[in-house]
Amino acid sequence: AVLILLGPPGAGKGTQARMLEKAFGLIQLSTGDLLRAAVSEGTSAGLAAKSVMEAGGLVSDGIVLAILKDRMAKPDVKAGIILDGFPRTDAQAAALDALLNEEGQKVSAAISLDVDDEAMIDRIAGRFTCAGCGEGYHDTHKQTAKAGVCDKCGGTDFKRRADDNAETARERLKAYHAQTAPLIAHYSKLGVLEATDAMGPIASVASALRTIVARAT
Ligand code: AP5
Ligand code: ZN
Repeated sequence: AVLILLGPPGAGKGTQARMLEKAFGLIQLSTGDLLRAAVSEGTSAGLAAKSVMEAGGLVSDGIVLAILKDRMAKPDVKAGIILDGFPRTDAQAAALDALLNEEGQKVSAAISLDVDDEAMIDRIAGRFTCAGCGEGYHDTHKQTAKAGVCDKCGGTDFKRRADDNAETARERLKAYHAQTAPLIAHYSKLGVLEATDAMGPIASVASALRTIVARAT
């Protein structure tokens, strides 16, 4: 199965992808995570991507596609994938269709997570993650059970992303509306679009998504 999570920054793509990964034995593939890894490793792609990401723009299709193809070449993706944050442009969507076509596959479902712009600024500004295991949290919506200790791994080190401030978040939102939102029409034409209200609590969005994914896979 090939699932796509479409939605503005802060909509909950990463949160929901990690939950679906566990529930359905799929592999989460986040181009944002892959790019952040390239930045911290200091690869040439990472060096080129860094300033664009810090400004809230979109990294070039060439860099993103190279990183994605690399990841898709690993054998674990045969279990099925959840694309989180990809595709984000017409060219990326076309490249994905071509790549899947070569393997006799197609997109099973493109799920759009619909959130209003103010909620997304709040979700981004309050977000932090465990430095040890990567579990995501939020200052008000998803706190750790014990203050300062990760529920999943017991780690006490947390981090915030360089692009998680209100100003950059607004730039990311602009890029989303200009370049990514039009993909909703692309997947609607292909007959695989599933629009989801993502304004509710994490658990209710998760349960709506499980229903969609169970039907699509
Ligand atoms: P990327 O890493 O993809 O970031 P993004 O799209 O901006 O999405 P986020 O990770 O910010 O949000 P999310 O939807 O995953 O929300 P989350 O689950 O964390 O991209 C970063 C940058 O990399 C881009 O700006 C671009 O430069 C570059 N890039 C990446 N992919 C690219 C591509 N394909 N092409 C070009 N450039 C690319 O949730 C957010 C917070 O809200 C969390 O704290 C969470 O706990 C909380 N939360 C989640 N759901 C709920 C809920 N239902 N109610 C209340 N709180 C909630
Ligand atoms: Zn942890």
